[in-house]
Formats: sequence, structure tokens, C-alpha cells
Amino acid sequence: MKQQPIGVFDSGYGGLTVLKEITAKLPQYDYIYLGDNARSPYGPRSFETVYEYTLQSVKWLFSQGCNLVVLACNTASAKALRTIQQHDLPAIDPHKRVLGVIRPTTEIIGRFSKTGHVGILATHGTVISESYPIEIHKFFPGIQVYQEACPMWVPLVENNEYNSPGADYFIEKNIHNLLGKSGEIDTLLLACTHYPLLLEKIKKASPAGMTILSQGAIVADSLADYLNRHSGIDANCSKNGQIRFFTTDSTEDFDNHAAIFYGQPVKSAHLAL
Ligand code: DGL
Repeated sequence: MKQQPIGVFDSGYGGLTVLKEITAKLPQYDYIYLGDNARSPYGPRSFETVYEYTLQSVKWLFSQGCNLVVLACNTASAKALRTIQQHDLPAIDPHKRVLGVIRPTTEIIGRFSKTGHVGILATHGTVISESYPIEIHKFFPGIQVYQEACPMWVPLVENNEYNSPGADYFIEKNIHNLLGKSGEIDTLLLACTHYPLLLEKIKKASPAGMTILSQGAIVADSLADYLNRHSGIDANCSKNGQIRFFTTDSTEDFDNHAAIFYGQPVKSAHLAL
């Protein structure tokens, strides 16, 4: 039977925290994960560059039989998704779909906050795109959104320093800055796929009673709902429970790091983009 996996894309490892939740929720589907590690991080890159790299990766996933691709990367979702959906997909194949991680989160975030003040922790690229405030206000016009760019958090995770005292320093500093913007923030969103690895330290640095949301489970629930509502797309996804991993950088490095994000051993293949 023809393989029609669901493509899951990230600039590197972070999307594996999303894939982990997706495969737990929807184990019957086939998946291809692509990490563009050779060109990560995307966070500090321009709109044009993130768009170009993301489109190239999406096209490769399409060439592998994917009809549905999830951008499991906030920076790519913020800087490339809309253009790909509106400009590229109609020309490439109007039956293919690309989804991101921002909408699933923004459409429910308002339900978690009692004060109506929420804080977004993200990469510099995601923050300056203003995607979170714009999208949240579409669903919850009355919610106040405060953002904090945390440029050191991805490098801390990528360099295996996420358990070190150095990580505490940067996490405390960014949480302090964010909470300084409003004393009423009661909900924090980890709007970067790397940040779940820092969850314990983020909790430690936050006041008691703060609601802290990771995206993996939210995106998995949203994808399950999407497939339920779109039976034609669901029928175009093969279901043999197979997962394949590709990286644009060293497979040895990827396999060594990936297990931390995915929670189990990973064996990847190399892809030159
Ligand atoms: N995966 C990216 C995100 O979720 C973080 C890493 C990067 O900057 O490339 O925003």
C-alpha cells in the first residue's frame, strides 16, 4: 500500500516534543519527522529565510507522499505558514494541507485564564511576528497578551545545559521580566517547542498557582479533531503505525539528542536539502 505519512517538521529537535504527544494520541498513522538541524535555530532568522527553508522542507515532505504536514515549530508557524497556505499550496496541490502550532493554542488559551492576562514565552522571531497577540485577539478579544523573548533558552536546551544552574539564571530572568509587565498574569504559554524540557525550572521560577501550558498535547488533540472533521484528508493518510526520522545534519548527533525530546530512542536518516 502507498505510504501517505503525516509530515511533522521542525527547525531541529523541538518538534519531537510535539510528535511525542501526537503519536501517543494517534499511534495508528504513519509519520515522517524532518528536523532541519543543519540550519537551526530559526528563531533569530529573517522572515524570508524562515519562509524559504520551511517551504523547501514542506515540499520535500510532499515528495515523500505526505498530504498533511504539521509545522511543529512556532517560528516556522509564525513566519511561513500563512504564505505557504495562501500562496504556495494552491499552486503546488490544492488538496494538500499544512497546519501549524499557533492556532490550536490560541483558540483555547482564554479558557485557562481567570484574570484575562496571559504571558507568552517564545523565541525572538515568534515574538516580533506578533502572531500570538493577533491570533489570541481573534478568539478572545478581551484578553491582555504580554510577550517575552527568551533567546537563551533554545541554546541551553540544544547544548544540554537545560538542567544546569545557568539555565535557572536565564529562566528566572525572563520570567521576572514577563511578570514585571503585568502583575495579573495567571497563565504562561510555552510558545516554543523546546521549552517543555525546561518545564520544571519554569515552574520553580513562577509564582504558585500559575497555569503553565505546553503545546504538545494541545496540538495532538487539535490534530485528532481535525482528522475527525476532515474525513477526505484522513482517508489520504496511511495507517501502519510507522515513524521515520530525517535530519539535515549529522544523524549521530540527531540520534544522541533526539531521545531527550522524544522520550525514546530514535534512528534517523540524513537528508541533504
Ligand atoms: N522550534 C523552534 C520554535 O518552536 C525553536 C528553535 C528555533 O529557533 O529554531 O520556535
